[in-house]
Amino acid sequence: MEEFKKLYGVVKERIDNELSRVMKNREPASLYEPADYIMDSPGKRIRPVLVMFSAKAVGGSFDEVLHASLAVEMLHNFTLVHDDIMDNSDKRRGVPTLHIKYDLSTAILTGDVLLAAAYEYLQKDLKGNAKAVEHFTRGLIEVCEGQSLDKDFEVRELVSLDEYLEMIGKKTAALSRMCCAVGAILGGGSDGEVEALANYGFLIGLAFQIQDDLLDITADSSALGKPVGGDLLEGKKTFLFLKALEKSSGSDRIALEKIAVNKGAKPDEIGFYRDLFERLGVLDDAKNEVEKLTIEALGQLVVLKNQEDIGLFTALANSLLNRTK
Ligand code: IPE
Ligand code: IPE
Ligand code: MG
Ligand code: MG
Ligand code: MG
Repeated sequence: MEEFKKLYGVVKERIDNELSRVMKNREPASLYEPADYIMDSPGKRIRPVLVMFSAKAVGGSFDEVLHASLAVEMLHNFTLVHDDIMDNSDKRRGVPTLHIKYDLSTAILTGDVLLAAAYEYLQKDLKGNAKAVEHFTRGLIEVCEGQSLDKDFEVRELVSLDEYLEMIGKKTAALSRMCCAVGAILGGGSDGEVEALANYGFLIGLAFQIQDDLLDITADSSALGKPVGGDLLEGKKTFLFLKALEKSSGSDRIALEKIAVNKGAKPDEIGFYRDLFERLGVLDDAKNEVEKLTIEALGQLVVLKNQEDIGLFTALANSLLNRTK
């Protein structure tokens, strides 16, 4: 764990330094100031860390995937800017979201330029490697599909847990899988290594999104950097909501169904639903599911030869389990 913290700190500082520069001193300011605002805001930088650790685990270096690492963070930030428009979110990373700080068209266009810049940066590390671009593009397409399902489910009364898993597999886990695959490919990994790391990335991505659903209702809002209960307000079909629906009956079930009918809960009902989730035991169900998926993810690491790398990926997965933001 100590080794992981040290290395994560080193890599994160390097990524943060680069990201604080990528969108500066560019014209027009109407486009690049907002782009810098999101890229220079305090994210956890998990995805670039996955690229770097994956490259290292197959014998590559951090240097040879630096641009690819910046590229996945740009791609991720593009999805966040558009996600906040789609989810009516006013705050992220402790500051107003782009469409609130600026306006809707600025936020849409900023997302567009971040996506283009992501490809521009990826290109710098490719050395003709078409496979890495394929993974990058496939990851992006799946995020769009997942985001579309997420919106479809808001107004659908019945969504199964399998459908939920398909949705988060695309909107979140496809990106973390892609990060591991791209890092392993550019680092010179074998097909077996790429596949194992990609599977690890996918499984921790599923765990990550269920944890995100959990934090949306249980976190401290100042640590989280956004108000709690946003998913309830939007009528999201989260792990908690679907499990609660499955386990409830009578007036509890009616209260849950009301969210779908009314297209979201009201701000003064968040406490009520939080208590209901607690009473039905679905907060614990979510924690257990996150742990189960994390253990499954760690099972993928047996192909790695280096004990130190297994330790790093294990500590990374465990740190995500215990995160507060
Ligand atoms: C938020 O991602 C979007 C999800 C997939 C849940 P992060 O929780 O990694 O956000 P930042 O980049 O650290 O702000
Ligand atoms: C995030 O899902 C998925 C993507 C951004 C692609 P959420 O909508 O749950 O993410 P947060 O909670 O707003 O960060
Ligand atoms: Mg969303
Ligand atoms: Mg959102
Ligand atoms: Mg969320």
